[in-house]
Amino acid sequence: MQPAPHLEKIQTPPITEVKRWIGGRIFPQNRPLVDLCQAIPSYSPAPQLMEYMKGVMTDPSSYIYSPDEGLPEVREEVTHWYQRQYKSGPSAHQLCLTIGASQAFWLALICLCQPGDEVIIQLPAYFDHLMGLQALGIKPVFAPFDPTTAGRPNIQTIKHLISDKTKAILLVTPSNPTGATIDHSMAEDLFLLAKSHNISLILDETYNAFVGHQPHQLFSHLDWPEHFVHIASFGKTFALTGMRSGALIASELIIEQALKVQDSMVVCQSRPAQLALAYGCRYLDEWVAKNTTMMQQRHDSFKDQFLAADLNFELSSSGSFLPGLNIHGLK
Ligand SMILES: Cc1ncc(COP(=O)(O)O)c(C=O)c1O
Repeated sequence: MQPAPHLEKIQTPPITEVKRWIGGRIFPQNRPLVDLCQAIPSYSPAPQLMEYMKGVMTDPSSYIYSPDEGLPEVREEVTHWYQRQYKSGPSAHQLCLTIGASQAFWLALICLCQPGDEVIIQLPAYFDHLMGLQALGIKPVFAPFDPTTAGRPNIQTIKHLISDKTKAILLVTPSNPTGATIDHSMAEDLFLLAKSHNISLILDETYNAFVGHQPHQLFSHLDWPEHFVHIASFGKTFALTGMRSGALIASELIIEQALKVQDSMVVCQSRPAQLALAYGCRYLDEWVAKNTTMMQQRHDSFKDQFLAADLNFELSSSGSFLPGLNIHGLK
């Protein structure tokens, strides 16, 4: 049996590859390995959430499918979270709960593109996005890294990359890997650019909860659903990465199509993940805010050390979410 040839051309998952380099190695206490390769919150979920989950896991109804798009009461709770964070946001019908941001991204691509279409993607790109595009036969068109804008997109460059095959402009903000975060006016410019070409702006906002302020005002446009698709990862927000909790937020039209894929792909986000998400959205704003402050302090300290060490590197970009300093090799 032969795998599809186009898949063989895709790189192997890089984090798996990097972990292989250190497989079996023990790092001494005085020289621990600092793992910066994967953005996993270094802290546990909130203790009250873990306590709540004990009840969830002993309730037999937690083990049953939910509607494809997620439980209505959970989606409702998520819409309230958006109202607080973005001062506006999707309705429950513009929201499908997914197996992490990763699956939301696949849903978005499948709903918007066909093989041979193009998506403009800002470099340096998040590796999973590239892998997804390539697996689906969608052509990534790269917007080069621009040190003069600290890695933020250059609107003119993106404009010139739009062709009659372009279906979307894709951006991660805050960016993985650079941390670069677009401001409100750049979000507006990107949205208006997408609108003027009748294409979509896809923002992967996996780290939105850590910017410490309203990320953008796009949801306040009455016509946002026509041209904006938002990818969310609650795994990062509430330290639930292994629970796999994300969402696709888009027009009702797109969500309706996405549910066909959702049903055949995964049916639904797991109920325990949904209930954890609803709990987080309802009760954990303060907990998330404290983590945001801690992350900012880590960032500042890391940046200070980096610059003070006279390493002859130029620091062109850095952002609010630093992965946990996970120490490997310690027993
Ligand atoms: C930019 C970006 N998008 C998506 C993901 C995946 O998120 P999830 O675990 O919710 O699938 C990550 C995880 O590191 C990420 O950095």
